[in-house]
Amino acid sequence: MLNIALPKGRLGEKVYGMFAAAGYECPAILENNRKLIFENERAGVRYFWVKPSDVAIYVERGAADVGVAGKDILLEYAPDVYELLDLNVGRCRMAVAAKKDFRDDTGRTLRVATKFTRIAREYYASLGRDIDIIHLNGSIEIAPILGLSDVIVDIVETGKTLLENDLEPLETIAPVSARLIANKAAFKFKSQAIEAIQEGLRRQVKYDD
Ligand code: PRP
Repeated sequence: MLNIALPKGRLGEKVYGMFAAAGYECPAILENNRKLIFENERAGVRYFWVKPSDVAIYVERGAADVGVAGKDILLEYAPDVYELLDLNVGRCRMAVAAKKDFRDDTGRTLRVATKFTRIAREYYASLGRDIDIIHLNGSIEIAPILGLSDVIVDIVETGKTLLENDLEPLETIAPVSARLIANKAAFKFKSQAIEAIQEGLRRQVKYDD
C-alpha cells in the first residue's frame, strides 16, 4: 500500500483528479468531507488529507511515501525529500510587494513582513540587503498599510489581493506550482509503485502552449 499525502482544499481536489485519471481512483474521497483517510486496496493506495503546509513533513518523516506540496513550502522548509514532478497546477509566484508610493531607502534596514522567513532571508541575502524580518501568520498585506513593514514577501496568484489593498508587486522571487514529492527511503524500497504513479501523473500534466 502506498501512502499519499494530499493538500486539503481546492488544489488537493484538482490534484486528486490527476491521480484518479492516472488510474488511482478512490471515489469515496469526494463524497465525505470530514473523513481524512481513504483507501483503495485494489489500486494499492491510501490517501490522506493534510494541511498543505504539513505535506512535506509527512513525506520527509515517512508517514507518507509520496505527497503533493507547493514549491513555496519546499523552498521555505527545505525538507529532505525527492522532488519528482512539477504538476503545473496551483501556479502562482512568490513576490515582493509594497505600497504604491514606496521608495526604497537603501541606507535603512528594510522591514519585511512575511510567513516565508527563509525565502525572504535568502532572497535579500543574495542582494546583500540588510533586513528586519517580521514573521506573520496571515493577512500579510495589512503590514505595510499599517506601517508595520516596508514590504511584504508573499504568494501572488491573480494579484487581486494586492490590488484591493493598494499594494503593487515589485519583484518576483520564484515561480510556484504543485510538486510530487517522495520520501527518500520509500523511493528506494517502493520504487516500482512510486515510479508507476510518477509516470501516470506525468501523462496528466497539462502544459500551456
Ligand atoms: C494567499 C496569499 C495572498 C493571496 C494572493 O493567501 O497570502 O493573500 O493568496 O492571491 P491573489 O493574488 O489571487 O489575490 P491564502 O488564500 O493562501 O491565505 P493566507 O492568508 O493564509 O496566506
